[in-house]
Amino acid sequence: MMATPTSIEPPPERRPRRSRTRTALALGMAGLLASAGVTALTGTAEAASTLGAAAAEKGRYFGAAVAANHLGEAPYASTLNTEFNSVTPENEMKWDATERTRGSFTFGSADQIVNHAQSRGMKVRGHTLVWHSQLPSWVAGLGTADLRSAMNNHITQVMQRYKGKIHSWDVVNEAFQDGNSGARRSSPFQDKLGNGFIEEAFRTARAADPAAKLCYNDYNTDGVNAKSNAVYNLVRDFKSRGVPIDCVGFQSHFNSASPVPSDYQANLQRFAALGVDVQITELDIEGSGTAQANNYGNVVRACLAVSRCTGITVWGVTDKYSWRASGTPLLFDGNYAKKPAYGAVLSALGGSQRRLYGDVQQGRGVE
Ligand code: XIL
Repeated sequence: MMATPTSIEPPPERRPRRSRTRTALALGMAGLLASAGVTALTGTAEAASTLGAAAAEKGRYFGAAVAANHLGEAPYASTLNTEFNSVTPENEMKWDATERTRGSFTFGSADQIVNHAQSRGMKVRGHTLVWHSQLPSWVAGLGTADLRSAMNNHITQVMQRYKGKIHSWDVVNEAFQDGNSGARRSSPFQDKLGNGFIEEAFRTARAADPAAKLCYNDYNTDGVNAKSNAVYNLVRDFKSRGVPIDCVGFQSHFNSASPVPSDYQANLQRFAALGVDVQITELDIEGSGTAQANNYGNVVRACLAVSRCTGITVWGVTDKYSWRASGTPLLFDGNYAKKPAYGAVLSALGGSQRRLYGDVQQGRGVE
């Protein structure tokens, strides 16, 4: 039983997070740290020292794509658990994983990820319901009426399974073509159901889990271009006609052929101005060292500058399991060491890495 409060001490969540021991340590070490060029501990409140905590202080989440079959690897799980406060199943909620055979649903691996996240207070992004890729071949074999009911049933079954557990769903993924046409991409859904399939998918999704935010998600839409204009027009049309849509996901897979666009922030902002949230959903940036770190910092700062940019997800925990492993595009290397890009992200989020006494003595700048 809690006693009736008699002092005016603020509730725990309002108190500075530093403990007495830590404060004393910090004070005692201030001179030493300063001489080592470390200023992280001199403020009144300690800066957050993980990606998730730092993002939370900015009112955002910071997530990672997760593969169920790596959760048993101790450093994978501990890096995930320590640093991230949102997860996206990398493949486990896709159609070929959840309904490989028509009407027979399998949720084992997706459940594993959702349970892992929920038991640790992490959010979950749902990815993805209607997509031309990782689609079992039986779907493409259906006639129009059957395809319509299969699509709606798939959305309904998968969303209801996780009802109340998913903060945002990628309802439709990658429905537009690359290049200058601004046209829809050919897919079983597009080819048989026509342009209305996206609207139908979103209406079905709203009915299946009214509390989940419903996103349209795509790549090569990160800057202002013909493809992002087409998505923009879709969202504007949906908003004007009251078709349910809450968010747009920007995958943000970058490399030298597809660099971070200079109008990235402006593009996020114009979508936000339509009245939807924007989320960076699959961020990875090929490269290394300072160049990669600078690019990551720019992306994070762009999100923070847009008030409706509600969170960032990187597309994996460690370079070694990245879908683009040879491009080393993530924040942790193959040994789970923090890369310069990690430092850039954390500091863009207003956090700072914890320096330990031993690190300073041994001349290590960072953990
Ligand atoms: C990728 C996964 O990372 C790979 O493991 C899988 O083999 C293929 O799909 N756009 C998306 C993601 O929306 O689902 C894709 O993920 C990457 C591109």
